[in-house]
Amino acid sequence: MRKKFLAGLLVTAMVASMTACGSDPTANNGGSSDKASSGDSGKKKVGISMPTKSLERWNRDGSYLEEQFKKEGYDVEITYSDNDTDQQVNDIQNMISDNVDILVVGAIDGDTLSTVLADAKDQNIPVISYDRLIMNTDAISYYVSFDNYKVGQLQGQYIVDTLKLDGSKKKYNMEITAGDPADNNATFFYNGAMDTLKKYIDNGTIKIVSKQQDFESVATPQWSTDEALNRMQNILSSYYADGKNQLDIALCSNDSTALGVTQAIESDYAGKNTPLITGQDGDVANLKNILDGKQAMTVYKAVANEAVVTLELVKSVLNGETPDESLTKKFDCECSYDTDSYDNGTGKIPSYLLTPEVITKDNYKEKLVDTGYYKEGSDGYLQAIE
Ligand code: GAL
Repeated sequence: MRKKFLAGLLVTAMVASMTACGSDPTANNGGSSDKASSGDSGKKKVGISMPTKSLERWNRDGSYLEEQFKKEGYDVEITYSDNDTDQQVNDIQNMISDNVDILVVGAIDGDTLSTVLADAKDQNIPVISYDRLIMNTDAISYYVSFDNYKVGQLQGQYIVDTLKLDGSKKKYNMEITAGDPADNNATFFYNGAMDTLKKYIDNGTIKIVSKQQDFESVATPQWSTDEALNRMQNILSSYYADGKNQLDIALCSNDSTALGVTQAIESDYAGKNTPLITGQDGDVANLKNILDGKQAMTVYKAVANEAVVTLELVKSVLNGETPDESLTKKFDCECSYDTDSYDNGTGKIPSYLLTPEVITKDNYKEKLVDTGYYKEGSDGYLQAIE
């Protein structure tokens, strides 16, 4: 069982991996992109396209990735495209014009990049699909993410275990808030949770009072907190007003939607109980709600580790290698190599999948503070480490 990264160890490991891994990116190693070294300095240049700064985690992704690659000796061009798909196409086009040697892309909408990435392919620029699978293009070399189906399974299983649903005589009412239909991850989160909860829905232990259950009915464009808030307010006024029903569970696929759902419950839910609310990402506002007992759990994904995996993958590709399962041996964090689960419409994309974990009021100190991912403020609440 591989030991997990501790961020304190992580920093050492990051430094170690940069030296221990050794390969000098500035060496003219004839990498898989047969472009000449692109930076004026002769350094290899990495183009990093992040979707937005408005969702907290992407700020962490971007800064970890930029820090990693610069320390490793790469030139880095990084953009954040404000959740504007046209802007992201332009940003990537500019990177191609700037002769990057490889692209690392966190897509806003996985279905909007085929044309611009065809240009990348024409210029032999490999593309790493970062965190969210980019669809319907054969320009993608590899996918790096977390086990997205497992994220949903962890949310579903937390509900099963916490409410002791097996053999339960008690019935529970649940409402569902899923993610952005433009984000390929969102259906994996939804399916992981719903496959875990299916038998309890089928046997009547869980009832979805609003009857809004299929993904399309419960999806949240752009993971918007306001969209999630408004939709939950409508559900509460239609099905839970005047004590008609008690809301026991609010299954939310991530923290930005959980934040909106929590706000709706605070303002519009008349019940005396605190519904069990799930989330994902470990956003600071949601960690506060977890400490205050308003949200039950979040699924944390150490994007610092995702950045380390991405760095080693990029180094291998630019060294002209064809990374496979053996690359995972470089990592102390749990990372699986999967060639079957992620078909992007042009074929199955070889994927490196890290392991997510459940964070609650009981384990946040060990998992988030002791590891150095967050620090505790004087008010006792968590702050991200800038
Ligand atoms: C997903 C990502 C999640 C979360 C969500 C937006 O694609 O995998 O970690 O960031 O977007 O909050």
